[in-house]
Amino acid sequence: MLAEKIQELLQQVQQLHAKNAEELEALRIKYLSKKGLLNDLMTEFRDVPNEEKRTIGMKLNELKTQAQEKINELRNSLMQQDDATDVPDLTRTPYPLPLGTRHPINIVKERLIDIFSHMGFTMADGPEVEDDWHVFSSMNFAEDHPARDMQDTFFVEQHPDIVLRTHTSSVQARVMEKTEPPIRVICPGRVYRNEAISSRAHCFFHQLEGLYIDEKVSFADLMQVMLSFSRELFGAQTQIRMRPSYFPFTEPSAEMDISCHICGGTGHTEDGHTCALCKGTGWVEILGCGMVDPNVLELNGIDSTKYMGYAFGMGLERIANLLYRVRDLRMFSENDVRFLEEFTSAG
Ligand code: PHE
Repeated sequence: MLAEKIQELLQQVQQLHAKNAEELEALRIKYLSKKGLLNDLMTEFRDVPNEEKRTIGMKLNELKTQAQEKINELRNSLMQQDDATDVPDLTRTPYPLPLGTRHPINIVKERLIDIFSHMGFTMADGPEVEDDWHVFSSMNFAEDHPARDMQDTFFVEQHPDIVLRTHTSSVQARVMEKTEPPIRVICPGRVYRNEAISSRAHCFFHQLEGLYIDEKVSFADLMQVMLSFSRELFGAQTQIRMRPSYFPFTEPSAEMDISCHICGGTGHTEDGHTCALCKGTGWVEILGCGMVDPNVLELNGIDSTKYMGYAFGMGLERIANLLYRVRDLRMFSENDVRFLEEFTSAG
């Protein structure tokens, strides 16, 4: 009786099949678990007369091994099927690619290029390692001007002096010496000054300068261009003001402020605190500018009785600070990806 049951189960076991992991698990439970069919047979085995125990026991063991092997075999073939179906699903939307971010200085630079090119300025470029003439002499710096001093300028060679340019005005000189006016250029670029590195100063930074030369150019033209550019960059409510200043290459010269874009020029926040950016003054300085000194025109081969012009120059780190409130200048050159990732959606 038991022998027949064993025989029957043996046949069943050999024909088992499972389409997936769930079916396989159901089979394992049905045959091999504690409450499974094989265990039932074990219980019946206890009542087998002693003289039959040996043969029946062997058959029972045989069934157990076969069932175990069959289940293993089914499991293996299911796993192989899985591998085979593991081809990529070509209809699936791709993972979003981790895009890099643009550097904040580049974001600012590109916005400025965009604004000024819409006003008709073209781009000009020049070397970072420059001669004294293009950086200083052609820009009307007197021989003993403190900016030539070892403290500010990195000298690459001396007599004749080759320096790392301390401002992008050197590019203006290069444009003037080879271009007939009208001239309307912007020169973005890196500049170097021999300063101790701190949160507020660095030995290199970036500038963007502009130069406009034509037959009739006035300070009012400069102010209008500065106003339009400031409103493009900082918002339509922005006001500008000019404060008298001094640069060797412009006369008159001015330092330009914009109305503080954080407090709207009021000097305080809505809840009455002094504005942290403009320190309560309502204004923040953003650039230097002025009418090109006739000496500079002559030094660069342009007839100062016929032509006149204006120039302006700004630090890109400063503009980036105003737009993004970066408190430590060193962040711009340390390439810390955590800082750079903050600009994923900027600009
Ligand atoms: N070259 C000046 C500087 O480096 C900026 C400037 C440019 C000022 C053009 C006036 C006109 O600070």
